[in-house]
Amino acid sequence: MRPSGIAVRALYAGVTLLTIASIAGCAHNQTAATRDGLPLAAAPTQAVPQLKSVMAAHFKVGAAIEPDSIDSPADAALLAVQFSSLTAENKMKPGTIGVAAGEYNFAPADQIVAFAQAHGLAVRGHTLVWHYRSGEWTEAPDWFFAGDAKDPHYHDIVAARLQRYVTDVVTHFRGKVYAWDVVNEVISDDPHQVYREDSPWYRALGKDYIAIAFRAARAADPDVKLYINEYSTDDAAKRAKLLSVIRDLRAQGVPIDGVGHQMHISINWPPLQNMKQAFDDVAALGLENQVTELDVSLYSDPGACWSHPPACLPDLGQPVPNDVMRAQAQRYRAVFDLFEHEPSIKAVTFWGYSDKHTWLTSIPVPRTNLPLLFDANLKPKAAFWAIADSSWQP
Ligand code: XIL
Repeated sequence: MRPSGIAVRALYAGVTLLTIASIAGCAHNQTAATRDGLPLAAAPTQAVPQLKSVMAAHFKVGAAIEPDSIDSPADAALLAVQFSSLTAENKMKPGTIGVAAGEYNFAPADQIVAFAQAHGLAVRGHTLVWHYRSGEWTEAPDWFFAGDAKDPHYHDIVAARLQRYVTDVVTHFRGKVYAWDVVNEVISDDPHQVYREDSPWYRALGKDYIAIAFRAARAADPDVKLYINEYSTDDAAKRAKLLSVIRDLRAQGVPIDGVGHQMHISINWPPLQNMKQAFDDVAALGLENQVTELDVSLYSDPGACWSHPPACLPDLGQPVPNDVMRAQAQRYRAVFDLFEHEPSIKAVTFWGYSDKHTWLTSIPVPRTNLPLLFDANLKPKAAFWAIADSSWQP
């Protein structure tokens, strides 16, 4: 998910608001051409390149999918041709897999893994531990935490449930999943906290749950890469906490291989330099980097939008102005140029593949959003060509 308000972010977003408003707004007294900007350039006439081949010298290229993504032959073909790795958008999370103590629902994830194996694609696992709750749905099911918190054995009981869950899930996918997000979003956005203290895991076990999960994952699969996954790693204060947590884990001898940077970014936030610093700081610790959930939103919302929907920018509507789509293509080109110059980046995974399905049309607020590389008809967008063909101009 995303951070709460940060002064500089809000300031920047204010500027963005004006920019977007001047691009998108006041349609009634402007012609469509003025409002939209010049049409995008025609796509190159060459055959559509395979992104995984274009990037092969640098990193794996992944997409997050749901099992029904591969029901349609056209989608399945696109995934098999364009990507070298898949991630389950939701179906490897504890809310799906962890039905009860010792009872698992692996079937939806197994469908994705079978497809990946049939097409020679890698699978990155996401995620063994997450605090997320939305209404009735939770990725930290209550059975993990059942019991009396005042019982002197409570800590050990919950720790044993976590250890068993991680062991069984990693064992189930051993040899099929090459990297796991062991924990997701464990760092707090609150300036007074390092760890996310509003997580049921933290409430039950304090910070110990992180070490328990990593150790259990390593014991279950000595070869799988173990990642800590986080958002807003570009933010210096957040990153300082993340790095301190990693140092603390390593001081205890906890196995950890890399940092996953979610990178739910927008067409003009955050600055490239901040992202570069995040990769470089992790590499300086001798760890790997992966971009794990890349999408480029059309909206540079103030941070407050994520906890206070009225703060989110208004719906751009359809069709989205050409200038916004052009800015997105240029943004994709710029971030891939950065990624390609960072040898510590081992994989870049998009949080989806086609604009027909993206979490950003419902979260943080329902509105038009087109954050991915292929349009709703699976046609490569300007954003695709901007990264697949460096000579093309949008
Ligand atoms: C999101 C999914 O895309 C949604 O379908 C679901 O409702 C909520 O989770 N950070 C993460 C991902 O680590 O697991 C989230 O995925 C997006 C934010």
